[in-house]
Amino acid sequence: MEDRQNSPDSPPVCDYEGSDYQTRFWDQGGRAYEDGAEAAALKRLLPPGGKTMLEIGAGAGRNTLRYKRFETIVLMDYSLTQMQQAQARLGRGEKYVYVAADVYRLPFTSGYFEAATMIRVLHHMAEPELALKQIRQALQPGATFILEFANKQNLKAILRYLFNQQAWSPYTLEPVEYIPLNYDFHPKAVRGWLAAASFELQRQLTVSHFRIGILKRLVPTSLLVWIDSIASLTGDWWQLTPSVFTCSKAAGVPEKASPDAGMFSCPECKSPLGEPQENLLTCTCGLRWGIEDGIYNFKQPVK
Ligand SMILES: C[S@@+](CC[C@H](N)C(=O)[O-])C[C@H]1O[C@@H](n2cnc3c(N)ncnc32)[C@H](O)[C@@H]1O
Repeated sequence: MEDRQNSPDSPPVCDYEGSDYQTRFWDQGGRAYEDGAEAAALKRLLPPGGKTMLEIGAGAGRNTLRYKRFETIVLMDYSLTQMQQAQARLGRGEKYVYVAADVYRLPFTSGYFEAATMIRVLHHMAEPELALKQIRQALQPGATFILEFANKQNLKAILRYLFNQQAWSPYTLEPVEYIPLNYDFHPKAVRGWLAAASFELQRQLTVSHFRIGILKRLVPTSLLVWIDSIASLTGDWWQLTPSVFTCSKAAGVPEKASPDAGMFSCPECKSPLGEPQENLLTCTCGLRWGIEDGIYNFKQPVK
């Protein structure tokens, strides 16, 4: 995976363009337990339904069907090829909107969405607080935001640190970048960034307590997922798992978008973008954004 500087004033992006992540990591990677544990957490945290859901860093759409009670689901990812894979899996119906864009430069009208999720994406953020502030802009006040992050203060890291097998401390607030553009975060730091971005934390669930090869081999997946989902209920008290789900409500500004506002705004100047004409969204600032095979592309303007 290539990391690259998107533009001089934009944080670097862990680029999944051309990646076989879905096949390699999930479909053939022996991760049915982790997938089931995440499904259980989402089921607990998701609102009963609604009009508009934004899935940030959707990848190939592994989680998207879990949001099916929303009328419109917008899958957004920096990688065009991940969006193509999601489209191949879910189809081109009216329910799904596919958007290639950078979370640091979101192309959405302020206050538009009723809910958003970001699962297994924050761990690629060099500037997590900035990303969370951008997401807050796209949400209505009171919107639900479900965020998963990789927890540096997990039991394995604590044991390794205690037995001198690991140099970095799991207890300190700074991120640990274990490979370039892959970070584990301290839960307290994430809570601080959420608050700074005007999110009010409602609930935390600890997920993947049993990410241990021998347990995954010996214990039936459904049983392991069930025990995990019970253990996850302690998430507001302590967080010692490699993965933590948080559920927050959007507070503060911006206000809800007006009912006649469209979904998209220019990622550069933030002016509203009207209806597409001949597969182009043209902004008053002069930039034009393309729609390629049903995928809105806000990575680069059309020349
Ligand atoms: C580990 S994958 C997770 C995909 C999916 N959420 C899942 O759980 O299966 C991380 C995803 O985040 C996307 N991503 C990374 N940085 C991004 C950014 N700055 N803006 C938008 N998407 C980004 C990648 O393209 C990739 O598809």
